[in-house]
Amino acid sequence: MSSSPTSLRSFASDNFAGVHPAVMENLQAANLGHAIAYGGDVFTDEAAHQFERIFGVGTQAFFVFGGTGGNVFALSSLCGPGDAVLCSQWSHLHIDETGAPERAGIKLLAVPSTDAKVTTKDIERVAGDIGVMHHAQPRVVSLTQPTELGTLYTAQEIEQLCLCAHEHGLLVHMDGARIANATAALGGISSLRKFTVDAGVDVLTFGGTKNGLMYGEAVLYFPQGAARAHSYKDFSQENAQRALRYAPYARKQTTQLPSKMRFVSAQFAAVLNNDLWVTLGASANDAAASLFDAVKSIHSLELTESPAVNSLYPTISPAHAEQLREVSFFWDWEPARNRVRWMTSWDTEPSDVKAFAEAIYQIVT
Ligand SMILES: Cc1ncc(COP(=O)(O)O)c(C=O)c1O
Repeated sequence: MSSSPTSLRSFASDNFAGVHPAVMENLQAANLGHAIAYGGDVFTDEAAHQFERIFGVGTQAFFVFGGTGGNVFALSSLCGPGDAVLCSQWSHLHIDETGAPERAGIKLLAVPSTDAKVTTKDIERVAGDIGVMHHAQPRVVSLTQPTELGTLYTAQEIEQLCLCAHEHGLLVHMDGARIANATAALGGISSLRKFTVDAGVDVLTFGGTKNGLMYGEAVLYFPQGAARAHSYKDFSQENAQRALRYAPYARKQTTQLPSKMRFVSAQFAAVLNNDLWVTLGASANDAAASLFDAVKSIHSLELTESPAVNSLYPTISPAHAEQLREVSFFWDWEPARNRVRWMTSWDTEPSDVKAFAEAIYQIVT
């Protein structure tokens, strides 16, 4: 499959969208003259300060090229020899990273789940292997927010998972490739700390590419505040501090240190300013809700609940899917159940939703 960018916005992935004008403008600004490489520039300072404003003083931001790389870097800094990461069987880490974490020496313990979420029971079960020399040692729990099935963890769920993880000496990583959509869905910027740093998340891969950037993500290390210290068992707090000490080296070793870093951080500075990133996430979510409203009466699609974020997972026969893909390409999600994914983006317009919904009606009913 290859295509030229078209005026019809795609329902395949938020990765299909273009770049927000404010990001383009700041890229132009970053392109004036020379600047110190590897992060010694004003754009990197500005974006790092914005992250401190948003998540709290002491938050440390490491800018990287991409999401897979950001995740592998984050986990590499958190794990040592023989360590393992608990994640859902639906996680991008497990399904869509081509074994990159494993290649970095990190064993994934992918647990079954119907809603793509990890539970405290999962943590307790794998924690039984701690101290067994013949088993990989659970060291990190990785949560995707929102998940790869468009579900969300509540702030309370994340707090309980973090508490349970820390009590067993594990740290918590969050894959926030679509954290903008989660933030918009859970109540906006004022909700963000509650389901991340305040809930006990140690390291967050903060997505940019799917939300108006050309490319780039940020890996954030949160300060180990005294308020959370009580939940850390034995060495886990020390491990979190060690991860931050290792982070600069882990980023370089996992090939995620951009020399011209200003071109990543300038993009972040543009969307973090005035919390534009949350507005863009909300816009994608609203478009998905509109698509749901437009097609929910088609029972064969089995769309029963309005989407929590920016994706829908309808059931559609392969023949109908093929016809509909001529209007707008989209991915299979669970082929055994004829489930596909329709995803909206920060720039999806009501006219795109209308055109796609009309095509769905024509083909499916
Ligand atoms: C949940 C999740 N994590 C991470 C990524 C990052 O992937 P990439 O390496 O393509 O930027 C994606 C992209 O689809 C994703 O959906």
